[in-house]
Amino acid sequence: MSGISSQQLRAIASEFGTPAYVYDAALIRARFRALADACGDDPHALHYAIKANATLAIVRLMRECGARADANSGGEIEVALCAGFAPAEIVFTGVGKSAAELRRAVSLGVKAINAESPGEVERIAAIARDLGTVARVAIRINPDVDAESHPHISTGLSTNKFGMSIDAARAMARDIGRHPSLHIVGLHVHIGSQITKTAPLARAAETLSGLALSLMADGVPLEHLDVGGGLGIAYQPGQVVVSPEEYAAAILPAVRRTGLTLLLEPGRWIVGPAGLLLTSVVDLKAQPVDPVSNETRWFVIADAGMTDLLRPALYGAWHEIAAVSPRPGADILCDVVGPVCETTDTLGSGRRLPPVDVGDLLVVRDAGAYGSVMASNYNRRPIAAEVLVDDGAWRLIRRRQTVEELLQWDV
Ligand SMILES: Cc1ncc(COP(=O)(O)O)c(C=O)c1O
Repeated sequence: MSGISSQQLRAIASEFGTPAYVYDAALIRARFRALADACGDDPHALHYAIKANATLAIVRLMRECGARADANSGGEIEVALCAGFAPAEIVFTGVGKSAAELRRAVSLGVKAINAESPGEVERIAAIARDLGTVARVAIRINPDVDAESHPHISTGLSTNKFGMSIDAARAMARDIGRHPSLHIVGLHVHIGSQITKTAPLARAAETLSGLALSLMADGVPLEHLDVGGGLGIAYQPGQVVVSPEEYAAAILPAVRRTGLTLLLEPGRWIVGPAGLLLTSVVDLKAQPVDPVSNETRWFVIADAGMTDLLRPALYGAWHEIAAVSPRPGADILCDVVGPVCETTDTLGSGRRLPPVDVGDLLVVRDAGAYGSVMASNYNRRPIAAEVLVDDGAWRLIRRRQTVEELLQWDV
């Protein structure tokens, strides 16, 4: 959990307003280090999954930590470049890469384009031929492994749209050798996000390594095995998750057998717990008496909602919500909701909070990953400010949008 104090949060709210995302730089550094240390001396590279948090200062911080980059779109490639990553440090994944995105990646010469279909491999080959270059390609396999996470963030089943079957990948890997404009550099898998068990991660790594061994025996030269991201975090107090050491122990034995370099694409695990959403209470409204506890249930209406943090509305995700300066008195039973004109705009339902009043500050914890990146302008709401706390000081890393700025796109 972030080490940002209540006093700092009050000062940040009065300086930059709410809603605002606030990140703890020291915690991001510590979590990156923990994951890197768990990989020990085995050849490895941590490609930070920019999709988790694409705010430039956060991506720069990851680079300063020693990360490489994992981009999931052309936009994320540009963020990576802007943050100072060299093309040779960027892997590019995505189930529907456009021709323009592929052309940009090929011309940059990124470390690997993780190809998701036979058709995409052909398109990459044609672009590279046209540009007179050789594209570095890895094949994303679909191992048909259930990540046992939320179905909306599971990607490794054969019924999911991601990757190629083992048979298709095997055929494709041999085929790539016949394309003078392609160089196969690795295999890739990503079975989902917020994974809290080691078994699916180990199974996916085993499948990847088995395919790599058989391809290498057939003379297909490979450089790396990319096992994707997916390591889960404890959103709920006491939730059991996989530690970096358990994670490494689950995947390293399979990768070691191949002698190839391990690539990881962690996102949530590094930045999730290091960010919180700071919000103010804008209204309170009594609901009917709760039939179970026989007490008045309240709507605590915050100035942050689904346009700022979509995860609760999108996945029913649970985030801890707390008062920044708890008032004395008996807890209230409440639903913490946002201002957006949708009933699903609820940050947390059935919560217990100390007595709250209009103007009070609340924090929504563990919002550093898949928070600000999923913000939208629905209801013409400007996107929130973002602040980075580092060594006792803080600075604005993304200023709050204004309605005037939003209107400039309309023609
Ligand atoms: C291809 C790919 N790599 C890496 C990640 C990062 O996953 P996580 O944030 O769960 O570590 C994702 C997210 O789902 C992804 O789609």
